[in-house]
Amino acid sequence: MRQVDSFKRGKHNLPRFSTIESMAKLLVTGASGFLGSYVCLQAQAEGWQVWGTYNQQRQPRSHLLRLPLNLASSDAIETLFRAVQPDAVIHTAAQSKPNFCQLHPTETYPVNVDASVQLAQLCAEAQIPYVFTSTDLVFDGEAAPYRESDLPSPLSHYGRQKAIAEDKILAAYPQATVCRLPLLYGRAVTTAGCFLQNFINKLRQAEPLSLFTDEFRTPVSVNCAAKGLLLALQTQGILHLGGLERLSRYEFGQLLVAAMNLPEIGLRASLRSQVNLPAPRPYDVSLESSRALALGYCPQPVQRSLQALLSDNTPGL
Ligand SMILES: NC(=O)c1ccc[n+]([C@@H]2O[C@H](COP(=O)([O-])OP(=O)(O)OC[C@H]3O[C@@H](n4cnc5c(N)ncnc54)[C@H](OP(=O)(O)O)[C@@H]3O)[C@@H](O)[C@H]2O)c1
Repeated sequence: MRQVDSFKRGKHNLPRFSTIESMAKLLVTGASGFLGSYVCLQAQAEGWQVWGTYNQQRQPRSHLLRLPLNLASSDAIETLFRAVQPDAVIHTAAQSKPNFCQLHPTETYPVNVDASVQLAQLCAEAQIPYVFTSTDLVFDGEAAPYRESDLPSPLSHYGRQKAIAEDKILAAYPQATVCRLPLLYGRAVTTAGCFLQNFINKLRQAEPLSLFTDEFRTPVSVNCAAKGLLLALQTQGILHLGGLERLSRYEFGQLLVAAMNLPEIGLRASLRSQVNLPAPRPYDVSLESSRALALGYCPQPVQRSLQALLSDNTPGL
């Protein structure tokens, strides 16, 4: 177990911890979400006292300190922050569905932008590490692979909200860390799903599963992304947390079939250009992640991490 007492970030050196009262406090927003759930588990394994927020989905987990938070209320954000007095914050809560953001830009902007910036301001005031979860969808997909220094050029409202939040966060708190995440996969949690379960169910039942051959991502397991976000507490600026491989969704499906020994009869190639969805989808937003790799970020090849999921006795897989 990596202990929190190895955590250092410039002047943010934390002391040794022996009891829960003396452990460093990590505030994880969106603890009921897919990524937030994994961040909480990993942070606990690394020795943090974790305070996780939920909005609509309270999860009865006794080992987590859970608090309700609606990001639409700036008063609620400030009250919660002052009550917890965290030593660091990882902000995963968001309206994370691009199609929903496309249809509801006014409603989602305060959640994805204003709340993220307010948290940055509070962290700046307290001089504590702040990690914001952004996305590969800040890019338009025409010039991959993308480095941290490449300028965002989002196609969708979701991508635009994240890009605006990134800018405002770094302006308010230059020591903050903006992590751009790729497509995440892993075991669904009680309160949040993952596309993987749907893929597996369809393939098992030999139902048609149409996956794009003309849309490329650098997917990474949610476990690995969670570890990357904790690692990101030790740095600042923009950090890409992509996976090792550039894959189309169809290629991902092929790896899934191979890794889990699934029937491939249902697997169909399709084109994103033939599908009409509310949010425009970039062609190739592969992330170049050498900065994170140099820090110790350690993504596994997709097939290997899918196999690991299977050997994990994962419920629902
Ligand atoms: N999953 C991916 O492939 C992916 C890829 C790139 C970037 N990201 C980013 O990673 C982060 C986590 O994504 P995810 O997939 O874990 O999302 P998710 O499963 O949809 O979880 C979203 C979390 O945000 C909370 N939330 C939503 N609206 C809220 C509000 N108004 N106030 C307070 N909390 C609210 C939800 O709480 P309740 O469920 O309790 O309502 C949930 O805990 C997001 O910033 C997302 O943009 C994800």
